[in-house]
Amino acid sequence: MTQTAEPVAIVGAGAIGMALGAALFRAGHPVTVCGGTPVQTFEVTEDGRTESIPVTHTTEPAEIKEHRLVVLAVKAHQTEAVAGWIRACADPGTALFVAQNGIEHRDRVEPYRGDSSVVPAGVYINGDRPRPGVVTLRRPSVDADLVIPDDAPALRFKDRFEAGGLRVRADPDFVTVAWQKLLTNLVTNPITALTLRRIEVLREPGIGAFATRLLEEAAEVGRAAGAVIASDQPGRTVTWLQHFPDGATTSMLQDRVAGRPLEHDAITGAVLRAAYRHDIAVSQLRSLHALVDALDGNRASGPT
Ligand SMILES: NC(=O)c1ccc[n+]([C@@H]2O[C@H](COP(=O)([O-])OP(=O)(O)OC[C@H]3O[C@@H](n4cnc5c(N)ncnc54)[C@H](OP(=O)(O)O)[C@@H]3O)[C@@H](O)[C@H]2O)c1
Repeated sequence: MTQTAEPVAIVGAGAIGMALGAALFRAGHPVTVCGGTPVQTFEVTEDGRTESIPVTHTTEPAEIKEHRLVVLAVKAHQTEAVAGWIRACADPGTALFVAQNGIEHRDRVEPYRGDSSVVPAGVYINGDRPRPGVVTLRRPSVDADLVIPDDAPALRFKDRFEAGGLRVRADPDFVTVAWQKLLTNLVTNPITALTLRRIEVLREPGIGAFATRLLEEAAEVGRAAGAVIASDQPGRTVTWLQHFPDGATTSMLQDRVAGRPLEHDAITGAVLRAAYRHDIAVSQLRSLHALVDALDGNRASGPT
């Protein structure tokens, strides 16, 4: 479908913000980068080919007042810090694409979104950002790069991302989509960050068994929250992760090594909050969260 060129605001021009901004630029939409380190281009490398995407950087939220397509791709714990950008273009005509991990996409932006429509997204692109404005992308999923709800605000992005070369699946059951993705992040991210080892650490028999027990607890919570999760999925997920290539890493491990804050509140913290709402005991997940929380020095997160 031919789309009219509409300016797009990228709030969080990291690995994923650049991947999505580049696709929207290819589809004919000029890209404005909101705050963060000033950049004039996104240098996007995929399959050995590098493309230079021109962007406009601004530090003034008033300059995106008329933008009706907004991509939020800061780490979950950085969302509050970009509230001013989200508020700047809050309007009934605005669609806010939340490209973040976890299951609380809508709750996270609720205080700031005004009348904007929220589009939660499951992101299956893998990106490394060695420095601002530079990203290397991989697309490990055989199915889709982005999974979004099957509703009107989400479909405003679907055609545009597809025109820019991304594979997008609209799924009527986004609750299940978000929990399915969470199940992989839930064990890979905290366990690699805690052990300072890559995903192959899950091949240790004791760690594999621990990961399966964690996922069994999380699956019970996910089902109570309305997600479809088969009884054998925890074991199958761990087996699948154990076959990841040697050296496969996680963002939480990279953040720990670099001394950056960890995104665990959006992952383990979110499951604890859901478990609390559904009155489900999750003792192993609670211990895992406490360990990562202590690692991060952030004892204020978790269920309230
Ligand atoms: N990377 C992946 O492979 C991947 C895969 C799937 C899902 N995800 C999820 O996608 C989300 C984004 O992850 P990411 O890896 O793209 O993060 P990232 O590379 O760390 O990028 C975050 C970006 O946000 C910007 N930012 C932070 N605070 C800001 C502020 N106050 N104002 C303006 N900009 C600010 C940073 O700016 P600076 O340039 O100034 O540092 C950076 O460009 C996360 O929820 C992550 O879990 C990531």
